[in-house]
Amino acid sequence: MKQRTLAILKPDCVRRKLTGKVLDRIIEAGFEIEGMKMVRLTVPQAKEFYAVHRERPFYNDLVAFMTSGKCVALALAKENAVEDFRKLIGATDPKEAEPGTIRRDFAESKQENIVHGSDSPENAAKEIGFFFSDFELIANEASE
Ligand code: RTP
Ligand code: MG
Repeated sequence: MKQRTLAILKPDCVRRKLTGKVLDRIIEAGFEIEGMKMVRLTVPQAKEFYAVHRERPFYNDLVAFMTSGKCVALALAKENAVEDFRKLIGATDPKEAEPGTIRRDFAESKQENIVHGSDSPENAAKEIGFFFSDFELIANEASE
């Protein structure tokens, strides 16, 4: 069964001109792009998106980072998309990420780690709804 996940190419990715390289990895790994947009998050939007972390010491820095430049939001589809995408990007801290993962190969720090991936199918659905209306997503029949 095809599943969707939400990815964000974070401001460090866009700023460092890595958008094309990271998108290529994602496409080569078999993910279909069903929605894609360039976004500049506002502070309230970034706070809401990462609200689960609001008590964490890194929250304010994370919000500042995520609003520091343009991002690319992606709705991705694949069998087992949520888990497979987390494997493709690797651990939060690039130093701990497996060789060959996107974060290990491109990220410079635990905060500036290139890409976000949803952590469960339930959160994927919520996060896709955060960025995309139905009209902005490819309908299932059309993506075959
Ligand atoms: P994400 O949600 O962005 O996919 O990342 P994740 O699941 O691997 O990590 P999470 O614990 O959800 O943290 C969200 C983002 O906050 C920043 N962070 N900084 N300085 C720090 O100790 C620290 N810890 C987390 C990262 O940008 C991380 O991806
Ligand atoms: Mg997370």
